[in-house]
Amino acid sequence: MTQAHKGFSKLSKEEKIDWIAAHYFSAPEEAKALIKKYWNTDTELQQLHDEFIENTITNFYLPLGIAPNFLINGKNYAIPMAIEESSVVAAAAKTAKFWSKRGGFKATVINTEKIGQVHFTYTGDPEKLYAFFEILKPKLYTATDSITKNMQKRGGGILDILLKNKTDLLENYYQLHATFDTRDSMGANFINSCLEQFARTLKAEACDYSDFNETEQNIEVIMSILSNYVPNCTVRAEVSCKIEELNENPAIDPMDFAKKFLTAVRIAEIEPFRAVTHNKGIMNGIDAVVLATGNDFRAVEAGVHAYASRNGHYSSLSHATVENGIFTFWLEIPLALGTVGGLTSLHPLVKLSLEMLQHPSAEELMQLVAVAGLAQNFAALRSLTTTGIQEGHMKMHLMNILNQLHATDAEKENTVHHFKSNTVTHAAVVSHIANLRK
Ligand code: MEV
Repeated sequence: MTQAHKGFSKLSKEEKIDWIAAHYFSAPEEAKALIKKYWNTDTELQQLHDEFIENTITNFYLPLGIAPNFLINGKNYAIPMAIEESSVVAAAAKTAKFWSKRGGFKATVINTEKIGQVHFTYTGDPEKLYAFFEILKPKLYTATDSITKNMQKRGGGILDILLKNKTDLLENYYQLHATFDTRDSMGANFINSCLEQFARTLKAEACDYSDFNETEQNIEVIMSILSNYVPNCTVRAEVSCKIEELNENPAIDPMDFAKKFLTAVRIAEIEPFRAVTHNKGIMNGIDAVVLATGNDFRAVEAGVHAYASRNGHYSSLSHATVENGIFTFWLEIPLALGTVGGLTSLHPLVKLSLEMLQHPSAEELMQLVAVAGLAQNFAALRSLTTTGIQEGHMKMHLMNILNQLHATDAEKENTVHHFKSNTVTHAAVVSHIANLRK
């Protein structure tokens, strides 16, 4: 019988499991056993994971795979990817190998500016608010001295603070719009701490500002929060080669391939239904590396899709040209990432991933992540415009189906061989295994 529980968070971990099993499962003992099967036997490690969030009952595994042979700006990388989708790592590895023979990937960070806002209402003369802001601005810097000290030592800090009048959108609505350089950290805590201090100083100083009347003095802070839309924290990743070098499949003419590829990209540039799926393929690569390196993939997703709509309609994040016989394929995306702070120093596998990437700076990580997105997009477009996506997907999916059917090693070997020359479908695999077991 499903039930509510007041004070659930105060129960011990065992009590939480007992309660959830008793009230939400038809076979409580089986549910409890499964939950505990996923506990790590290393109690210290388990405790670390328990404490990442509240009400932890167990661990939820995702595979961590490696896409090797990525040549990026002349350096070789093995890229860690945490993802459940069966074809993503294989596609990345295949594309990395393809481009490593054609000069590799080039990536450049364009800018690294982060944004935060204090949203507030002010009822009164806007001119007076602007005059007040001139006096307030230096005080905002002074008031955040203790927060910004360490960041300044690392070469970052607050870049600027602007007052923005948004009353054309909402009555009495204004913002302090601040920009930040957070160096190698994603900077969410730093930015939010600065903003909350700005808000306190804004309110206190307004109360004491003698040119304001009583209503004007009563500024109301609605909220203070960073923005995950970072259109000035962007990176570009690119590949290019002579058209005739796009010759991997002898059955496909490189010029025909390039033309079809360009049309596929053009469709994603002009057609939102296709653009969303096209960009989803890019995010397959991006999210997997973002997750493996302990970064916030929800923040990245939100910011990237807003960027894809920046010209008023949702469009492709990647673009392609053929000029003077050279095929060029690139993307430009906003990425707010960190390689220090947050999970990066806590999660052992995140530390492992960062070491595998040779301890990148945040800017280097932006480049690697953008490349993973571009590689994934190249792989998807290449199969979509040639063999179709299902061939590769179903081959990878075959293993998942075989595992679901608890196939033995011998059955797996036989089935993989059989489906080299037959189309993989779920029903066909089930029937093949049934035949083997007869
Ligand atoms: C599947 O996860 C991703 C693709 O749909 C991307 C695309 O269509 O470009 C294959």
